[in-house]
Amino acid sequence: MKSVRGPVNVREFEHAARDALDPVFYDYFASGAQDEVTTAANEAAFRRLCLVPRVLRGLGPPGLETTVLGHRTSMPLLMAPTAFHRLAHPGAELATARAAAGAGVVMIAAMLATTAIEEVAGEARKVDENAALWFQLYVQPDLGFTEAVVRRAEAAGCTALVVTVDSPALGRNERGDRNGFHDLPPGMRCENLREIGGDVRGVVLSPEISWRHLDWLRGITGLPIVLKGVLHPEDARLAVRRGVDGLIVSNHGGRQLDTTPASIDRLPVIADAVGGEIPLVLDGGVRRGTDVVKALALGASAAAVGRPVLWGLAVDGEDGVARVLSLLRAELVNALTLCGCDSPLSVPRDLVVEGGGR
Ligand code: FNR
Repeated sequence: MKSVRGPVNVREFEHAARDALDPVFYDYFASGAQDEVTTAANEAAFRRLCLVPRVLRGLGPPGLETTVLGHRTSMPLLMAPTAFHRLAHPGAELATARAAAGAGVVMIAAMLATTAIEEVAGEARKVDENAALWFQLYVQPDLGFTEAVVRRAEAAGCTALVVTVDSPALGRNERGDRNGFHDLPPGMRCENLREIGGDVRGVVLSPEISWRHLDWLRGITGLPIVLKGVLHPEDARLAVRRGVDGLIVSNHGGRQLDTTPASIDRLPVIADAVGGEIPLVLDGGVRRGTDVVKALALGASAAAVGRPVLWGLAVDGEDGVARVLSLLRAELVNALTLCGCDSPLSVPRDLVVEGGGR
């Protein structure tokens, strides 16, 4: 048998990325807030949850295609928004966008990208003219600036706005403090922040942002609005009542408030709260096809990955990201088959039990 060269799973991609990256940038990508309890909990929770497969169902090989928020996607996996791709690889967000479009998955482009959204969209469309791109937004107290960013995302053809709501302040990142990493290196800018000179320090994460701002946003754009960072069922209910189109159940990969529960542990209670009225996406600690299956079973329409994409990008640019996505795709096909499921929509809740549970 021929041996495989290079990483064979996401964990090995992380190891290879750590070898490839400047240690300060590796710390920026890998770290969580303070004691990193939540960052570790996200992955640990998936290991604690067990899959109970069904047998002899004779369904044949599973199809992975599905829709999220009306968008067709080749598998129930999205790219979560992550800032500063240029720190990982000179190809930056253009490389990531090509890999996402090539794989037929939705990329959520970050407001704090090091490449302008217009260029990211153009690059994705070179690969697939129907490539789906959503735009992640931090609503700014300066509504004029916020609106300018939204208009750019609309004009670039983004088809949803992902509003990150878990960031009324920046989480305390102690690895960053120790490394003195508080700004982009010379020559790198946040290209979606041109209106304020491209300086990330001009972005305001404000505790004054409220549902009122969401209503304002609803009034200025026709794009579907997805809230990212909801962990409490009452907030999920409020979001449904306010006409929000989808939720990302997320603790920001443990980078904001430390000691929040693992996001997968909040998914069932959020799914109960929204009662199927709007789609849910789950992110935080997804590293295996089996993790995606667990998210589907517990009520998500899809899962999303943050760091795994960055590891692929750091290791080998577009090809590295493409390889991470194809590994996860193969793992997902395998996991669904072994569970006795033939599609992302046919994953029953009773497939997942707590370790040793009934
Ligand atoms: C993020 N995340 C994030 N989220 C967001 O809404 N806007 C952003 O600019 C960023 N930036 C960012 C940078 C880096 C380096 C990381 C690791 C994460 C959070 C991201 O969207 C997602 O919620 C988590 O990354 C999911 O967890 P995993 O997959 O990284 O475990």
